[in-house]
Amino acid sequence: MPLRTPVVAGNWKMHLGRAPARDLVTALRDALGGLRGVEVVLCPPAPWLADAHDLLAGSPLHLGAQHVYWEPHGAFTGEVSAAMLAGIVQYVIIGHSERRHRFGERDEDTARKLRAVLELGMQPMLAIGELREQREAGETVTVLRRQLLAAWEGLERLPARSIIAYEPVWAIGTGLTATPAMAQDACAHVRAIVEERFDAATAETCRVLYGGSVTADNVATLAAEPDIDGVLVGGASLDAAAFTAICHAVAAAKGA
Ligand code: PGA
Repeated sequence: MPLRTPVVAGNWKMHLGRAPARDLVTALRDALGGLRGVEVVLCPPAPWLADAHDLLAGSPLHLGAQHVYWEPHGAFTGEVSAAMLAGIVQYVIIGHSERRHRFGERDEDTARKLRAVLELGMQPMLAIGELREQREAGETVTVLRRQLLAAWEGLERLPARSIIAYEPVWAIGTGLTATPAMAQDACAHVRAIVEERFDAATAETCRVLYGGSVTADNVATLAAEPDIDGVLVGGASLDAAAFTAICHAVAAAKGA
């Protein structure tokens, strides 16, 4: 049993209608149901989560939500609470760069969301990452530290096996993947920050994923890096064959 079970998560973003979403869940359930040693998480758009939940009954594949609001209920038109997601999904993406940069989510919002998700017994997938100009200015680690510490504000402990996704903003949806060495370096810093803020045991079991233009062709070298415990996949997660190949490549790279 490895210290950290690798994770492959597919963020479908705002793509696919109901029938194609059902078809993709079914195809992945059939293709990946027998894969052992990797946690596979599908994150379809919110309206299709209940369908996906029913289709995945009895399957080892997990479900994740792309978005959550921290209040449990109330007059918050359009929002979905952690209480509404609990029982349907096991994971929730928090702090994705598209939420931060297109919808103005602030560091303190990620902290409220993280706590709401943890209180309901789900696993946050906390996404962090630097802008191109921040990398060029040598500020990558400072930015990652700031985003992490802000998201963990008021948190006494991080549950074992937590998930953090390092996603450089300049690599998301651009085809510009970070090199394995760059991604490894950032992920190792993330793990060190987890240790600094919590403890060594938490850092050792925390799964740090890389995300940003991951494909079936580039995933093997990324996943071969010791501090990269899997990947968060956008575009390539919409293609059953590509996503299946990515899951198998991560399993092989991690000796699962
Ligand atoms: P991408 O998206 O794989 O399409 O770059 C990654 C993400 O946004 O999580």
